[in-house]
Amino acid sequence: MKSQTIFTESGEPYELTHHEVVLEKLRLLNLKDGETLLDLGCGDARSLLAARKIADVTCIGYEILPVALKAAAENIKKEKASDKIQIIASDFSDVDLSNADALILYLTRNTLGQLSEKLENELRVGARIVTHDFDIPAWEADQVIEFKSKEAIWFTIYVYTKK
Ligand SMILES: C[S@@+](CC[C@H](N)C(=O)[O-])C[C@H]1O[C@@H](n2cnc3c(N)ncnc32)[C@H](O)[C@@H]1O
Repeated sequence: MKSQTIFTESGEPYELTHHEVVLEKLRLLNLKDGETLLDLGCGDARSLLAARKIADVTCIGYEILPVALKAAAENIKKEKASDKIQIIASDFSDVDLSNADALILYLTRNTLGQLSEKLENELRVGARIVTHDFDIPAWEADQVIEFKSKEAIWFTIYVYTKK
């Protein structure tokens, strides 16, 4: 982890997903027009911005770090994407997840562990989740993909379906 990394109060790093990994995660989610995609801890909104180029999805991102909220707002404005992407300045622990068809996540395993019960209780059956680097404790992945970027960096991507 870089020394200048910014952290939330709970110790979650503001680390952004490599663009190639974003695209691979979205490919694995297999988004369909009309679906709702959530990014819990959306950072600069890169995954949501990429998603709306793939399918006609409603994108909602939750974020608490001011630096990330500012970057997300700038990126959405730059790409004129405010019609399809909503960023909510809120702790994702407090939001209702029942409207989600798909979730794209990049969170530490500790945070994923804390979220696990909420995902279990609130997601509808069939909702898909993709995450990388860290798996969701106590969830069984449908797929575990070893993805190699053009710079020969390996990433592990996990795909889940709510049963
Ligand atoms: C590892 S970064 C991932 C950013 C982005 N999703 C990506 O893939 O590029 C995790 C993000 O989650 C945010 N975050 C952590 N805990 C949060 C919480 N409880 N509520 C909202 N956002 C949170 C952090 O501020 C940070 O931007």
